[in-house]
Amino acid sequence: MIIHPQIQGCVARNCHPIGCRAAVQQQIERIKAAGPFNGPKRVLVLGASSGFGLASRIALAFGASADTIGISFERGPSDKGLGSAGWYNNIWFRKEAEQEGRIAINLIGDAFSDGMRQQAIDTIRQQLGQVDLVIYSLASGIRVLPDGTQVRSVLKTTGQPFSGWGLDLERDILVQQSLAPATPEEIRDTVTVMGGEDWQLWMQALQQADCLALGAQTVAYSYIGPESTYPLYRDGTIGYAKEHLHATAETINLQLAEIGGHAWVSVCKALVTKASAYIPVLPVYLGLLMGVMKERGVHEGCIEQMQRLFAAKMYGPNGVVADGNRLIRMDDHELDPAIQAAVSALWPKVTPDNFHALGDFAGLRQDFMQLNGFELPGVDYAAPVDVASLGELTP
Ligand code: NAD
Ligand code: NA
Repeated sequence: MIIHPQIQGCVARNCHPIGCRAAVQQQIERIKAAGPFNGPKRVLVLGASSGFGLASRIALAFGASADTIGISFERGPSDKGLGSAGWYNNIWFRKEAEQEGRIAINLIGDAFSDGMRQQAIDTIRQQLGQVDLVIYSLASGIRVLPDGTQVRSVLKTTGQPFSGWGLDLERDILVQQSLAPATPEEIRDTVTVMGGEDWQLWMQALQQADCLALGAQTVAYSYIGPESTYPLYRDGTIGYAKEHLHATAETINLQLAEIGGHAWVSVCKALVTKASAYIPVLPVYLGLLMGVMKERGVHEGCIEQMQRLFAAKMYGPNGVVADGNRLIRMDDHELDPAIQAAVSALWPKVTPDNFHALGDFAGLRQDFMQLNGFELPGVDYAAPVDVASLGELTP
């Protein structure tokens, strides 16, 4: 079977499994090129199959020789299709990690469930004893609470409605998009899904089960962004959820004091991932930002961000490097006033006719395609993919 990309709006409907392997290998090579660092040796990653979670896992396994357990919600091959990119990322990661003698275990299922917490506890006890680091990198539009209630998050603004040009990745054009103000219930529900409650449940369960090593740390990923994006993010429903996440870090931090551990939030830069491509209007900011940051030589992808986070800002010679609010600022380059001034000068000039000339939308598009295994160098996309043998691979 020859696989062509199927993109619908800002969502990829398929993936190229062989290309996903190349994407994982590319990230591994970048970590090896950056050199080893002294990091945690036993790590649990929630949201391990794509984006920041996958990049974290690769950075720690191949930069610090960490054994990892990764949890994710992904689809394997079925009569509906070949399965999701994250499914194959898990498989290829495990193969590469095992080749280097690392333990790499993939747990597939709902990380919001008590059942998955128990499965993780059992697996940690059997395979790792305890963990030194827990990474919380879930991004989801829905959470089923432990009592069975389904809660959905929304991507809306608060206060005044907001509209602007958004990116249609399927057609490579700009379209008008608007964000309506959320109701109080929608804000509350988004906080329930994307805030810190589930992170705290995880850390409580792990600590009670004695799965956290002395001095264990945990880190969750957040975004703040520049003032120009506040209506889209910080002052939107997702921003409320992140505020809750930041507050939860303090609660967990107190809880971990008993074992000499710490909880952190790492505020990352805006990047193309499955989750972020879905936020209205934001990808236009992202295309402009990528252009400016590349021009100034400070561009980073997911893997470079996570390499720098662990090697320099969490496990480097100075230990954890955080700001006055105990936030680890990986958005330092993005928020550089010179970078933001350049982006802000371009943004009002963007039209459907000139956007490619004003920002790096080709680069953004390529990053998006590569998340799904397409457009990777060295992959022969004209060659048929052996679907039957892919079906035999297990995570
Ligand atoms: P992503 O979509 O690439 O990854 C999400 C991960 O969560 C996947 O591994 C997915 O399988 C997993 N997941 C989702 N629902 C699950 C469930 N119910 N059970 C188990 N696993 C589940 O997203 P991402 O962009 O890497 O986001 C990760 C975190 O980073 C989020 O908190 C996000 O807000 C944050 N962040 C993202 C950006 C950005 O620009 N992309 C910037 C800063 C912070
Ligand atoms: Na992730």
